[in-house]
Amino acid sequence: EKGTYPHYMLKEIDEQPLVIRNIISKYQDENGEVKLDENIRNAVNAADRIYIIAAGTSYNAGLVGKQLIENIAKKPVETHIASEFLYNMPLISKNPLFIFISQSGETADSRGVLVAVKKLGYPALTITNVPGSTLSREADYTLHTYGGPEIAVASTKAYTAQMAVLSLLAVDSAKAQGFELDFDPIKELSIVATVMETLCDQKEALEKIARDYLSVTRNCFFIGRASDYYVVLEGALKLKEISYIQAEGFAGGELKHGTIALIEKGTPVFALATQEHVNLSIRGNVKEVAARGATPCIISLEGLNFEDDQFVVPKVHEYLTPLVTVIPMQLIAYYAALHRGCDVDKPRNLAKSVTVE
Ligand code: F6R
Repeated sequence: EKGTYPHYMLKEIDEQPLVIRNIISKYQDENGEVKLDENIRNAVNAADRIYIIAAGTSYNAGLVGKQLIENIAKKPVETHIASEFLYNMPLISKNPLFIFISQSGETADSRGVLVAVKKLGYPALTITNVPGSTLSREADYTLHTYGGPEIAVASTKAYTAQMAVLSLLAVDSAKAQGFELDFDPIKELSIVATVMETLCDQKEALEKIARDYLSVTRNCFFIGRASDYYVVLEGALKLKEISYIQAEGFAGGELKHGTIALIEKGTPVFALATQEHVNLSIRGNVKEVAARGATPCIISLEGLNFEDDQFVVPKVHEYLTPLVTVIPMQLIAYYAALHRGCDVDKPRNLAKSVTVE
């Protein structure tokens, strides 16, 4: 039930700190150490390459998952859109592990790939919010995201839950390989939960941004570099699906290779700036679009922020930054849709689980 909330989406956004704390408690052993099922640990470690398959928001989580697993567990990962995978199948390594990420566990495009790779004899793990779903039953292993039912069509808490579980999978694999971690994953995820709460308390400021930037616009752009790029893809998807504003996420450096032609006076451009090594270059991209009339909105990280940034996110561990930076984007999308009179929980033409190819 949505209780006092006007929409499930808002409720589900607010539930994210709780979901993260749930995940922490479910994937911890009695000594407070991250621990995955032994069969899953072995399957991950037997793999010489991981292929993540997913659609939509779950695909966006898979992009961040690739970085988490490569950075923490030092295993090569490729992330693929489910609906395209079989048309242009990459060369598969000798000992692959396929990881399917799916909130519903029912997405037909993902299932199509699962059926094909099982036929080829490859092992498969499903990360899902619905254990017992088709993708969970048909894979060899399941990791539960413990998000609780997600009712709003636009996925919010499932996305952050998927990334949290992927980070723990990476940590578990790193430990099994004997790597020394230079951070405490449980502590860092707890900080994420706390920061999520802080962000969920800033609805007024985010509603104002939505009003100022998105009340009347026809289109808008989201830019970021490195892992911020993956998060802006999700920010753009959230906004377009519920507000019907044409929104595109771009790598900061790519906009000028064509799409900058679409920038007009007043076109909103949201830029995410949360990483030191790309802070100046993404701000350079903001200058490029501003010089062509865009109205930029910079969302930055505490410590890397400049004086005029429109919104500043508190710091968390660099690997986990996407779990918190997405929250302002979710809330901006929510308020933009609300102000434009859209049906937030049930956007037109969309279904919660897409069971056709
Ligand atoms: C976006 C959204 C969709 C789903 C996609 C995959 O908010 O909800 O893009 O992420 O249809 O669904 P699952 O994760 O159920 O496989």
